Amino acid sequence: MLRREASVTVWPEPEVPPPPEAVVEQVREVEGVLCLLTDRIDGEVIAAGKRLRVISNCAVGYDNIDVAAATRRGILVCNTPGVLTETTADLAWALLMAAARRIAESDRYVRAGKWRSWSPQLMLGQDVGGATLGVIGLGRIGQAVARRARGFDMRVLYYDIVRVPEVERSVGAEFVELPVLLRESDFVSIHTPLTEETRHLIGAEELTLMKPTAVLVNSARGGVVDAQALAAALRKGEIFAAGLDVFESEPLPADDPLLDLENVVVLPHIGSASVATRTRMARMAAGNLIAGLKGERPPYLVNPEVFSS
Ligand code: DGY
Repeated sequence: MLRREASVTVWPEPEVPPPPEAVVEQVREVEGVLCLLTDRIDGEVIAAGKRLRVISNCAVGYDNIDVAAATRRGILVCNTPGVLTETTADLAWALLMAAARRIAESDRYVRAGKWRSWSPQLMLGQDVGGATLGVIGLGRIGQAVARRARGFDMRVLYYDIVRVPEVERSVGAEFVELPVLLRESDFVSIHTPLTEETRHLIGAEELTLMKPTAVLVNSARGGVVDAQALAAALRKGEIFAAGLDVFESEPLPADDPLLDLENVVVLPHIGSASVATRTRMARMAAGNLIAGLKGERPPYLVNPEVFSS
């Protein structure tokens, strides 16, 4: 799609993101950038991109981009909302089930040749059916996660900075303040963007409010949870388990304390990773970029105030 419309340079190593200095270098002469969440498009990059008019992120989250700096320079910032909602909600549920029923740990156990016999006490987990689910952030993905809970006869609580009563009714979720959600939920699933307000929203204090049988799921952004506090809580048995697709530092370093714990399921940020969804995201990101370069309003614009027709 892009090559039909523009002259395109592609970073040649798909699994090694460009270092910051390479990003600065690459943006100097270009009018548009299609970037991934691993690319930091900060003030320095934006200042270097003298001809830059459009930044199109191939992700719904855009905490990797300094939107305020882009807006000041009149640069359009675009993202890919909607197309990954169901796929990411599926993944949050996969993590929830895996952590509750110790799926990854059991798999490691069988592969290690440790399975001797059926045993009444082997790999005991937590029930999901009929339990209480707490959703933090009832945006598109949070709602999709909440809807799935109906099939498990769950009570659904949610906390968000904005209350939308019609959404509450349609997904069957009850608004509560965060401490209440943490105290009453058996499963807590995070679906907020990473902002200055949500950074470390879940820290040591919040974790102590949770039940010792509770499971924490994070498929949003790692920075929403204080990773050190989480590792400590899991080690001390303050909560039962965690299912994590995102981390404060990605890729997760091989010596990260979370990796020493059996009660954590770790995934390499694959929330939206289905063939169909990643294809839709790529097309959407390319479509946004092309529209912006042509002077049209990109369909998914984060800073609409910049666009003047
Ligand atoms: C996003 O889109 O923000 C996800 O984290 C990757 O799909």
